[in-house]
Amino acid sequence: MVAPAPSSSGRMAAVQDMARLQRVLFEAERDFIRTASTLIYRVGDPELKYLLCQHLWESAGHARFLRERGREMSGFGNGETTRASVREIYNEAVMPTDALIALAGFYGVLKPALLAAYRHYLAATHHLADWPSRKLVEEFIADEERHAREMAPYLQLEAAPTWTAHLATALAAHGGWLGEQSAQPLPANFIWASSQRTYQHPPTCNRSPYPTCSSAFSYDAAETPIVRPWLVDPQTDARVIRLMVYVWLMMELDAVDYLATIFYDTPEAPFDLHHDMARHLWDESRHSAFGYRQLPKLGVDLMTVEHSLDLYNILVQMAPHERYAMMTMEFEAGSFPTKATVMDRIRELNDFEADTLLAFDRNDEQNHVRYGHHWLPQIMALGGETRSVEEFVKATQAKFVELAKVFGNRTPHSLPPERRLTGNKILTLVGVK
Ligand SMILES: [Fe+2]
Ligand SMILES: [Fe+2]
Repeated sequence: MVAPAPSSSGRMAAVQDMARLQRVLFEAERDFIRTASTLIYRVGDPELKYLLCQHLWESAGHARFLRERGREMSGFGNGETTRASVREIYNEAVMPTDALIALAGFYGVLKPALLAAYRHYLAATHHLADWPSRKLVEEFIADEERHAREMAPYLQLEAAPTWTAHLATALAAHGGWLGEQSAQPLPANFIWASSQRTYQHPPTCNRSPYPTCSSAFSYDAAETPIVRPWLVDPQTDARVIRLMVYVWLMMELDAVDYLATIFYDTPEAPFDLHHDMARHLWDESRHSAFGYRQLPKLGVDLMTVEHSLDLYNILVQMAPHERYAMMTMEFEAGSFPTKATVMDRIRELNDFEADTLLAFDRNDEQNHVRYGHHWLPQIMALGGETRSVEEFVKATQAKFVELAKVFGNRTPHSLPPERRLTGNKILTLVGVK
């Protein structure tokens, strides 16, 4: 995608040529984050969501190191904006309505092309002169190869031959990410799906094959697994609290799904905002995995745990900066007192693993609130919001309450009470009833 350098006869041409390649690689990584994040709430399998979050975070690392190294080199350029030719490919990649077809496009075409581009960089640069870049690129290649291996079990390339061929054609028109291959002009009948309709987040997130509900929290032990008063009641058995908090952690998949919607909606964000959101996203996916991995060890059948959809369903109706404000200023900032009580109770069990998971969760959450304070004014500005942060947060909280009346509480329990995990079932599981 890079035009031949006009100044290749210049003194610094050798550096500038490589810096220009790094610049495209930076843009290809950062726009991957912006768009592949749309897969997360569209695929159902939590393991696949977790894996995507991990890859997004690693891509954010690649982009950050490319920017750092690139800025040491003459010709990388100052801004962070992704050029239209890169954006056009990724904007196309989000278009399939079937998430597994979209996944095949990202991982069957665009990521392999990125790997090819890194290999091209390594072959094209001088091993000694550009050693600092070489070391980075060698690591990125190893990451990309691992990403391909990790995603292989989820990829159904044979189910999406038309779409992968379509994306490959779009990319071939640029000669690959770096223009390292001869460009193949687009066929006359090529139609960009992104020119025919606008991508929209689905009104609800995918959790298939798991059962769903509106919320995992209530005051009714016969209805939901988390019974609010039990969390802070000193009479509650600590083993009951441990199971409830693992369900709570697993339900942070909510945060994964709605946070993932913000990247695509903020194409003009500074890269560092997306970098920190990618970290935030990966943290939430790890918190969810804490519960997802521990619950079966404690005798819970995951097919009996309903996934709560309310937060995604309500938040997706709001603007991206409103979603971010609710997440960091309301849900996260508001969760500390209860979690502190819960952590104290769990310590009675001498369960080192549970203590560790909760300690890291708390530590991560403190960072998330810090991210919120740092980024909220900037994401508000991107959304054209001119009120003070305080005023805006208050208004957004009120708006959430109103939207919850319309879009909340709409997901009926998938499972009848006798089959789903409830507070009462948890009592039976730990043997206190
Ligand atoms: Fe979390
Ligand atoms: Fe968080």
